[in-house]
Amino acid sequence: MDMKEKLEQMKAEALEQIHAENADLEQIKIRYLGKKGELTAVLRGMGALSNEERPKIGQLANEIRANIEAAIAKKAQEIQSKALDLKLRSERLDVTMPAKPLPAGHLHPLTQVQRQLEEIFIGMGFSIVEGPEVELDYYNFQALNIPKDHPARDTQDTFYITDNILLRSQTSPVQVRTMEHRKPPIRIISPGRVYRSDALDSTHSPLFHQLEGLVVDEGITMGDLKGTLEVFAKKMFGESTRIRFRPHHFPFTEPSAEVDVSCFVCGGSGCRLCKGEGWIEILGAGMVHPFVLSNCDIDPEKYSGFAFGLGIERIAMASLGIDDIRLFYENDQRFLSQF
Ligand code: PHE
Repeated sequence: MDMKEKLEQMKAEALEQIHAENADLEQIKIRYLGKKGELTAVLRGMGALSNEERPKIGQLANEIRANIEAAIAKKAQEIQSKALDLKLRSERLDVTMPAKPLPAGHLHPLTQVQRQLEEIFIGMGFSIVEGPEVELDYYNFQALNIPKDHPARDTQDTFYITDNILLRSQTSPVQVRTMEHRKPPIRIISPGRVYRSDALDSTHSPLFHQLEGLVVDEGITMGDLKGTLEVFAKKMFGESTRIRFRPHHFPFTEPSAEVDVSCFVCGGSGCRLCKGEGWIEILGAGMVHPFVLSNCDIDPEKYSGFAFGLGIERIAMASLGIDDIRLFYENDQRFLSQF
């Protein structure tokens, strides 16, 4: 075989390898074009050629080198673009695909009811104030006419942090805090958490929520209290709702009353919700005691006021038909998702 044939054969071989499916281009390059490669070996034998043949073979060898290099470069390009193609295809995003549905949450039923209450009172000109849950004995009891050892403390036993600092057992201390730094006319509500050391059962919880109301101005009477609560009851439970005052005692109001609404399920004839009573108790209320006004430097000769405190859980249970207070705090989705 002469040198030209040898070269041609080598070229054919190399190209065939380059075009093969799993060509190892680096290996092929070394094998044919490397320092110890086959092409170099052929060229080394050129000394034996005639002067005439040498340049021809040299030129052919150079052409073949260029051919092989070009073929390798082209194949490398192909491999690269194939890989890119594959990557793009595997990473393709269909932006028109519908999203996985995220379950939408909603407000807790207690929060819903609290907001509903707030809206009703805001509509009547009340503004919202907040008070601390960790409270001084003075605000929670003493300023409200409940001195140490007063029997009313028994019904509102709570959690003490020190002898004088406790978790508030009612929202009524906010009355005192408000009147201390705001002078009449005052028209506020104050919703929030309260605490009592009651055992947990279907109607009691050591943590629950109240909403306090307070109005102080010149000439405020029990009629204003009744009118306000009547408007509230109708807005909350329906236009046909009536209210009823029963005499009661709170140390910080005088006179005091417990207030019932006519049952909004049976209208007053008696049913399961109102336990046959026809009425549902919803709050405590009364005219602000002169002692409390004086404690806050408000002249009871000039000003009078009314206050009320309602249990948010109680209202929520009645209006949503819930028979166990514990359901509010267990955060069971099966319960919460119903509201
Ligand atoms: N704080 C009283 C309670 O928790 C309710 C109340 C508030 C009564 C305001 C009268 C006036 O029982």
